[in-house]
Amino acid sequence: MNNIFDIIKKRYSVRTYELKPIAKKDTEAITEFLSSITQGPFKNKVQLKLVQTNEDSESELKKYISYGNVKGARSFIAGSVKKGRYAMEDFGYCMEKAVLKATELGLGTVWLGGSLNRGTFAKALALSDDEVIPAITPLGYAADKRSMMDKVIRTLSGGKNRKTFEELFYLGDLSRPLTPSSLGKYETPLEAVRLAPSASNKQPWRIIKEKDQNVFHFYMNEHPTNRVFKDVQMQNNDMGIAMCHFELMANELGLHGTWQTDEPKLDAGNLIYIVSWKSLDN
Ligand SMILES: Cc1cc2nc3c(=O)[nH]c(=O)nc-3n(C[C@H](O)[C@H](O)[C@H](O)COP(=O)(O)O)c2cc1C
Repeated sequence: MNNIFDIIKKRYSVRTYELKPIAKKDTEAITEFLSSITQGPFKNKVQLKLVQTNEDSESELKKYISYGNVKGARSFIAGSVKKGRYAMEDFGYCMEKAVLKATELGLGTVWLGGSLNRGTFAKALALSDDEVIPAITPLGYAADKRSMMDKVIRTLSGGKNRKTFEELFYLGDLSRPLTPSSLGKYETPLEAVRLAPSASNKQPWRIIKEKDQNVFHFYMNEHPTNRVFKDVQMQNNDMGIAMCHFELMANELGLHGTWQTDEPKLDAGNLIYIVSWKSLDN
């Protein structure tokens, strides 16, 4: 993928699709891309697959997704991850890569963690007992006009609203917000995180940078609803999405680093530690 920042800025949740099928060359490009993704940064096995329905009527679509907040979708990217530690982060990371690839190809997506019929997708993925489907996305061309329901959901979830840089990113501890201009090249990878999609637009990512070092600790500001389900935690998907945006953006800028999970001895209040990016460029 090229021009990651442009792709990230272009992406938004598309909930109203044109009925026209996806062009053959785009189908081939996305299929090839999906097959190249086999695991996330924590090495959990991830499977992503294009699921094309031949259904023409909205009622048939109910086999795949419910509630009617998505209109016109005829294709999906479905995915699964092997259950395990950091499985949700790995899935979020991989699925978001696919979402960005689709955006690059001019295709619309919307992460759907709720309102999908997991049984239908389980069959399409030949899901085994040790795997889980955290989310899927429809895939197709965005319709020019949004449906009424689309507008309502976008308003309820806050759509494009994002927290400010200073609310999300800190220096040393939570008492000192990071100022973008102090970051040099790392300003853009953090901005790429800020623009990421998240479940109900809750933006749970908090990052604390170490003083004088390009070491970034990723924390989750967890909402109580994140623990409702045993095998699926949406906000951990969000954390994987943040890792994806940060890493793709950093790499494109020639910044290199590794993901490590040594929890730093920082006072991070109620935040839950997930992972750290340690620069290899120093
Ligand atoms: C893990 C995850 C799960 C989501 N689940 C749903 C969903 O079930 N239904 C829905 O309409 N949107 C869902 N969304 C989309 C978010 O509401 C959307 O990304 C957020 O409001 C920001 O808007 P934007 O994507 O247009 O930037 C989900 C997003 C993520 C990252």
